[in-house]
Amino acid sequence: MISAKVFNRRRQDLMQLMGDGVAVISTSREATRNRDVLYRFRPDSDFYYLTHFPEPHAIAVLSPGREQGEYVLFCRDRDPQREKWDGSRAGVSGAVEQYGADDAFPIDDIGDILPGLLENRKKVYCNVGIYPEFDVKLLNWVNEVKSKSQTGVSAPHEIVDLGHVLHELRLIKQTEEITVMKRAARITASAHRAAMRACRPGMMEYEVEAELQYQFRLAGSDYPAYPPIVAGGRNACVLHYIDNAAPLQDGDMLLIDAGAEIDCYAADITRTFPVNGKFTAAQRDVYSIVLNAQAAAIDKTRAGVPWNEPHDAAVKTIVEGLIDLKLMTGSVEEICESGGYKRFYMHRTGHWLGMDVHDVGDYKIDGQWRQLEPGMTLTVEPGIYIPDDDDIDPHFRNIGIRIEDDVLIQRDGHMILTKDAPKRIDDIEALVGRS
Ligand code: GLY
Ligand code: MN
Ligand code: MN
Repeated sequence: MISAKVFNRRRQDLMQLMGDGVAVISTSREATRNRDVLYRFRPDSDFYYLTHFPEPHAIAVLSPGREQGEYVLFCRDRDPQREKWDGSRAGVSGAVEQYGADDAFPIDDIGDILPGLLENRKKVYCNVGIYPEFDVKLLNWVNEVKSKSQTGVSAPHEIVDLGHVLHELRLIKQTEEITVMKRAARITASAHRAAMRACRPGMMEYEVEAELQYQFRLAGSDYPAYPPIVAGGRNACVLHYIDNAAPLQDGDMLLIDAGAEIDCYAADITRTFPVNGKFTAAQRDVYSIVLNAQAAAIDKTRAGVPWNEPHDAAVKTIVEGLIDLKLMTGSVEEICESGGYKRFYMHRTGHWLGMDVHDVGDYKIDGQWRQLEPGMTLTVEPGIYIPDDDDIDPHFRNIGIRIEDDVLIQRDGHMILTKDAPKRIDDIEALVGRS
């Protein structure tokens, strides 16, 4: 678990960057699933990164230089009656004693207190556009301060996107975060191994999903980092397939894209393997291209290399492979240039990974792809998805393969956090169906 000291340091680092601004950060709203049933609550990542406060209905204010304390937390008050139904609450005393707030108030009193915290500040940092109802409230509070201008109070005149400063901090992972991400990766790799062992022709996709979810939960994950994709046969060509409701056919492949979330940090692994444990010649051919493309991309995943280079390396390997298999014709350069490969490979080779599976952080700076730096974590996930089209050799139609690992950039090289999930053909054939 990440220590209170680390959360305090993050707040200090952010306040350094804010100058004479004040930050007002809301956590997520509770979301209704249907009628009286709510989705399980998951805090907003920015809010949680700064507070570690797990409850809904909370707002953090960071007010650099405030005499009575710089970190103010508004949260639900204790309520013994409600706590009998919904579980315990930290309350304002817990906000101070357990979560390190300098000052805390009941969330119901925010309208009386927050305008005062905005007085005489030039800027307000907030997550503009994420929680629109909250934006309206915040603007009303700013207007309330404005209306007092005759008393000599000045109101903020700039609303600044908090992400602009905070997301650069979140992009470079601290040692403590890497420890949590390693754990999420280990649990996820182990669940993928269990799913491979459990898989048999005739099973339903959801039975394999159940194995993954069981392993995640058994290891202490509150929920998957995103809805698992368990896609047999042609379903693997639907990039965001989450029905997971079809039978697994002998002779087909199964693509699993699933990751555990641990204390709000994600893992994100994809493996693709034959349902019956033995690659056909066509499956082996396509799989080998994707595996080589991933190796080429991982080789470029090093400090100092621009973001696009791993992708470009994967694309080149895929195009060469597709030409070899006579699935495309033309020159490698021309197909890479024209984007003709997108018929088979239509997504990019990775994304930042962290508290959000598609984590925050800019990919370009001043119009140029940014360079990879030590402490960044990202996925490397090339794929090939062959459509069911008449002009394609029937042996290859409807094959969908993606191989995805999570990589930490280090000073000299990288660490593959998810290496315990097998991906070599021999290792897969030795494991699938062997429970
Ligand atoms: N699982 C989402 C992704 O791979 O990007
Ligand atoms: Mn991914
Ligand atoms: Mn994925």
